[in-house]
Amino acid sequence: MSSRLEAEHLYKVFGRRQKEAVERLRQGADREELRADGTTAAVIDASFTVEPGQIFVVMGLSGSGKSTLLRMLNGLLEPTAGHVRFDGQDLTALGARELREVRSKKISMVFQHFALFPHRSVRENAAYGLEVQGVPRAEREKRAGEALALCGLAGWEKSWPDELSGGMQQRVGLARALATDADLLLMDESFSALDPLIRRDMQDQLLELQKTLKKTIVFITHDLNEAMRLGDRIAVMRDGRIAQIGSAEDILMRPADDYVASFTQDVDRSRVLTAGAVMDTAVRGDEAGCHCETATPDTPFVELCAISARLTHPVAVLDEQRELVGVVPRQRLLGFLGEGAGETTPCDSPRDKGGQVIADA
Ligand SMILES: Nc1ncnc2c1ncn2[C@@H]1O[C@H](COP(=O)(O)OP(=O)(O)OP(=O)(O)O)[C@@H](O)[C@H]1O
Ligand SMILES: [Mg+2]
Repeated sequence: MSSRLEAEHLYKVFGRRQKEAVERLRQGADREELRADGTTAAVIDASFTVEPGQIFVVMGLSGSGKSTLLRMLNGLLEPTAGHVRFDGQDLTALGARELREVRSKKISMVFQHFALFPHRSVRENAAYGLEVQGVPRAEREKRAGEALALCGLAGWEKSWPDELSGGMQQRVGLARALATDADLLLMDESFSALDPLIRRDMQDQLLELQKTLKKTIVFITHDLNEAMRLGDRIAVMRDGRIAQIGSAEDILMRPADDYVASFTQDVDRSRVLTAGAVMDTAVRGDEAGCHCETATPDTPFVELCAISARLTHPVAVLDEQRELVGVVPRQRLLGFLGEGAGETTPCDSPRDKGGQVIADA
């Protein structure tokens, strides 16, 4: 089965002599060299796939090329080179009319500052995408109402946008995207303008919605903590290139280079790591102590700490067949929390025998 979305060697160059610039980039030139000629290499050789139901996060500093990449994914920008495939269909090969059709029916965008129409009710705002599609009024009001309810805005349908807080307005934007049935959501810094607490709420809400809706989502952010909370997979961009693609755990535990590693220092490890990532696998069954309370490789770090606090011995980690796959001594948990500033990764530290020695090599 093909991926839902596929980017294949995508390039976007702004300015003069674009094709020539792509050739130079292919031969290893970087952004700075091209800039000298008045050419901007916004996206350089980006390749990735997004599977159905995944949240794919693109993370990077301002100017790294995130929005340009996103705009190529829905055909708003034509790539200078490379291809975008959506459900196997090459968007780059479509004519303007077909592209508009795909965009209005199958793809929804949610921006950072979601522009609501001030003189339309919340419901009319949420129904806007359906109106564009020509869905009859009764039907679109019904679907908009359902989408608003999903986003926690039941009862606000008849309000005006200026009666809503910023966070609520942003949720109307999300509701508009959800109302259309489009199953590819492109979200560009959609939560970045929100207060930290509301932002966290929105992240939770998105994850909760995603459990049932299972949309395919490309989510852009410059915040690695947000990326790690939301992303099934994360692409880290630097100067137009993708520096690494991987799970939150890959990025944290196996950064591709110093640049990616430098981001991870501020990450709250306890929110990302799972038992599978921190356990010591060099153990045999009888070394794990009693198995009265155990973890699985997916057990979140914080839960693991709670279990560990109740036990006097290391936590045993069991797989689906209830086979012992590792143990986590309490000291090892602390070692991982302090790891952000250290030079060694816990994976490289010497294995302890009875699960007694901490990973502090
Ligand atoms: N239409 C354009 N014409 C010329 N240069 C552009 C254009 N759009 C983007 N760029 C340049 O491409 C580079 C990448 O821009 P882009 O907007 O994709 O970055 P971004 O990662 O989304 O940044 P931010 O986090 O600030 O939104 C920047 O150097 C920008 O100046
Ligand atoms: Mg941007």
